[in-house]
Amino acid sequence: RKPLTTTKMRKMKQDGVPITMITAYDYPSGRLAEEAGIDVILVGDSLGNVVIGFDSTLPVTLDDMVYHTRATVRGASRTFVVADMPFLTYHGSLDVTLKGVARLMQEGGAKAVKLEGGAEIAATVKAITQAGVPVVGHLGLTPQSVHQLGGFRVQGRSSEQAEKLLSDAKAIEEAGAFAIVLELVTDELAQWISKQLTIPTIGIGSGVHCDGQVLVYHDLLQYGSDSAPRKFVKAYANIGETIRKGIAEYVKEVKTRAFPSPENTFHMDNDVVQYLYG
Ligand code: KIV
Ligand code: NA
Repeated sequence: RKPLTTTKMRKMKQDGVPITMITAYDYPSGRLAEEAGIDVILVGDSLGNVVIGFDSTLPVTLDDMVYHTRATVRGASRTFVVADMPFLTYHGSLDVTLKGVARLMQEGGAKAVKLEGGAEIAATVKAITQAGVPVVGHLGLTPQSVHQLGGFRVQGRSSEQAEKLLSDAKAIEEAGAFAIVLELVTDELAQWISKQLTIPTIGIGSGVHCDGQVLVYHDLLQYGSDSAPRKFVKAYANIGETIRKGIAEYVKEVKTRAFPSPENTFHMDNDVVQYLYG
């Protein structure tokens, strides 16, 4: 199987074929997502929450992103992998921004990068695109701006906010992005924006009319993420429960000496045993 291309993703939008995206952060998650037939993998800075255990994405560094992207790509070498540019790594000089992008691609092996923001980062998106790097935008609830947005709430409910979101989406499309993630946007607004763009929208908590959907690995599998399942997350498995039960069983069997059993044990020849024990 060949990885998707940005051209194919645009074609999928035209043909009305939903694009599937999931986050992954390491070799096993990348590998399992690829084996399950996912279209695109996002190494999201949500790793700050679900892998490192911070309460936001703000502490995630470029080194963290490079490390996790490398591992993910090794597990998913035939899948289109996008990596997040972390907090405050693309708002200074273009030179510094491009060095960060280069690290995610050359050391990490990402095929594209994702940046949060609208018109205010359009020039940056354009510069990265012109350097030959595919870019994904991210609008609506942008977790790197959580302190400015004042919490995790649904975006674009009023007509002014809706107009602003649409103009931001258009600015990012014009700057050359090949897709835009819409996070926590009302169903109606996400549909309206998706119709007006030629590039695909990938929704999370933004209704069924987006051109694709993305969810966080640990959320959709209930894999040790401590946040209570939110309204927009559907749990497709309960991996956390499976793992907890497995480890508890191991603990019990070691305590009772049920493990290791004869099948798990190696033996010496009898004459050597006799020599040792007399
Ligand atoms: O970091 C992340 O997981 C994301 C998705 C929620 C889109 O940016
Ligand atoms: Na992110």
